[in-house]
Amino acid sequence: MKKRALTGYRPTGKLHLGHWFGNLQNMLRMQDEYDAYYFVADYHALTSDWQNPQHIARFTDEMVLDWVAAGLDPERCTIYRQSDVPQVAELSLLFNMVLPMTWLERTPSYKEQRAQITDKDLSNVGFFLYPSLQAADIAIVRSDYVPVGEDQAPHLELTREIIRRLNGTYGEYLIEPKAIIPEDGARVPGLDGRKMSKSYGNSIYISDTPEEITKAVMGCVTDPARKLKTDPGDPDICPLHQIHKLIAPESEIARWESECRAAEVGCVAHKRAVAEELTAYLAPFQERRAALAATPDFARDVLAAGKEKVTPIADETVGRVRELMGL
Ligand code: ADP
Ligand code: TRP
Repeated sequence: MKKRALTGYRPTGKLHLGHWFGNLQNMLRMQDEYDAYYFVADYHALTSDWQNPQHIARFTDEMVLDWVAAGLDPERCTIYRQSDVPQVAELSLLFNMVLPMTWLERTPSYKEQRAQITDKDLSNVGFFLYPSLQAADIAIVRSDYVPVGEDQAPHLELTREIIRRLNGTYGEYLIEPKAIIPEDGARVPGLDGRKMSKSYGNSIYISDTPEEITKAVMGCVTDPARKLKTDPGDPDICPLHQIHKLIAPESEIARWESECRAAEVGCVAHKRAVAEELTAYLAPFQERRAALAATPDFARDVLAAGKEKVTPIADETVGRVRELMGL
């Protein structure tokens, strides 16, 4: 029996290089070795975007197209939409019976986002319960592994704690999942040096045209101490170089590093090279994406097939947890 793996993305925008290197490459690798479940977290999108939900359905379809064009194969993994499996909502409700409010209050992402995000009203109960719903997403298929970017580690820890408490109270049934975090792409920097995120406006999207890629890369931050081309640079703190490392072979990276440290090459030349290489790197993906988008109802059909596959597993999990909890 293969071990199970599961992960989800919120359909709140287009995919960027942070998703591509932070997570998607692991998802691709895991689809054969594991029994893999990948879902579009549309309930989760609603927790933060409940005032403006009109884009969720479109981004859901686009996410499926992006995933399949990137190489996820609906024959080798199960791709579904969270709200097609309402058993997840019931499991989360059952989790909430044992989940202390203090565990949710101290979740770092909750505290951070309540403090930092001011253009959305996040005082709703749904947003507060976000990590409980995430724990239910993982437990609904009894996943062993969860590939995510490093920002998700606290949510995984909370999931393990909830499951431990449930197992301790009602008997061992659910599995404590382990996070799988990529070493080299754990935190892809954005154009401004902060984490690449659609909420920061610092992203390079995998669907960007060559012109958009060039414009974005030419505006990327480099070593801030390097004012002139004749100043030696430090590639270790240069966000442009961190992005370059993700797409170029090691020998080429070593050459750019030594030439940058010796002030033999300027940042503008480096940006031009990265823009060109990134455009070439993304071209095959973009061609496949265009072909899939031309197939009518492609995403809807993939999601319908995924729902069929995951539903019996979800029914079994919720049925057993209900029983264990005395219902
Ligand atoms: P965003 O921050 O753009 O809203 P999401 O929260 O939708 O991204 O992230 C979906 C998945 O991609 C998560 O597993 C997350 O850890 C990963 N991820 C997102 N941005 C990055 C990044 N800059 N570096 C590494 N992983 C990332
Ligand atoms: N919280 C994750 C994010 O912001 C999305 C997500 C929802 C998720 N449910 C999940 C990730 C279950 C892994 C497993 O990216």
